[in-house]
Amino acid sequence: MILLQETAPGKLNLTLDILGVRPDSYHELEMVMVSVSLCDTLSLELETGEPWTVVCNVPGIPDGPDNLCWKAAQIYFDAAGTDPKGLRIQVEKRIPAQAGMAGGSSDAAAVLRALNRHFGRFSDEALRGLGLRVGSDVPYCLFGGVALAKGRGEILTRLPSLPDKLCFLLAKPSFSVSTPALFREIDAVGVSARPDTTAMCRAIASGDCGAIGGCLQNAFEPLVAARYPAVETLRQAMLAHGARGARLTGTGSVVFGLFDDSTAAQTARDALRGICPTVHLCTAIS
Ligand code: C5P
Repeated sequence: MILLQETAPGKLNLTLDILGVRPDSYHELEMVMVSVSLCDTLSLELETGEPWTVVCNVPGIPDGPDNLCWKAAQIYFDAAGTDPKGLRIQVEKRIPAQAGMAGGSSDAAAVLRALNRHFGRFSDEALRGLGLRVGSDVPYCLFGGVALAKGRGEILTRLPSLPDKLCFLLAKPSFSVSTPALFREIDAVGVSARPDTTAMCRAIASGDCGAIGGCLQNAFEPLVAARYPAVETLRQAMLAHGARGARLTGTGSVVFGLFDDSTAAQTARDALRGICPTVHLCTAIS
């Protein structure tokens, strides 16, 4: 039996803009993304001689072909023209699910990375192509770090690392949002909050935490915040406790705050615990 292990970092959207609907009915996006230290860990056993299975420490995660890890492995072995003769994927989840942090996509990317490290069949670019067949966020999750993502999310440009000391506070409210439903809704009402992506790229290049915080923006936030007051409550609480900026990530429901350092973020975390039971501190990884 072969055992492979891999970590799957979560992601945050420093910006998210929706530029239009594409002929394939996906949306043309422009996003600045960052990988964070809050991660899932995966173990893959090959040649188990048993039917495929996905096991997860968190209830409610699909354990069959609907699981993105399973889908990624299926796509990898189909493309490679090989059979692992049994596969068991074990996922230890820490990234909140349905949170806008690409937890499922990052797990799928980790499966592709682990398999390709072992079998070495595909270039990085070809692997991202396989990832796109699993989901729009998977190519970025393979690419990792600070990046500008365009197209469906698969056209990726590397950006400079964020300042070393910078720290994120994540707060996960209890609601969750359907991504396809939210895309349909924004098509109907239009984008009202548009990030200045160029200014964000400039702020990142300058390494100025305050400038980066000032450029955080997410086109989905007004819609989600109008329905769920917790978004604005958490944002205001983070700003009142020293955040340089605070936003929804992806389609939510995680709200994150950006802090100069871990001391500032810890103070805010202690203050937020009273209003949100699920809070995490994490750093950017490049
Ligand atoms: O690609 P993925 O399956 O992760 O996308 C989930 C849903 O998000 C799609 O079905 C679509 O409704 C929406 N989406 C989109 N445009 C993108 C990415 C996702 O409309 N670029």
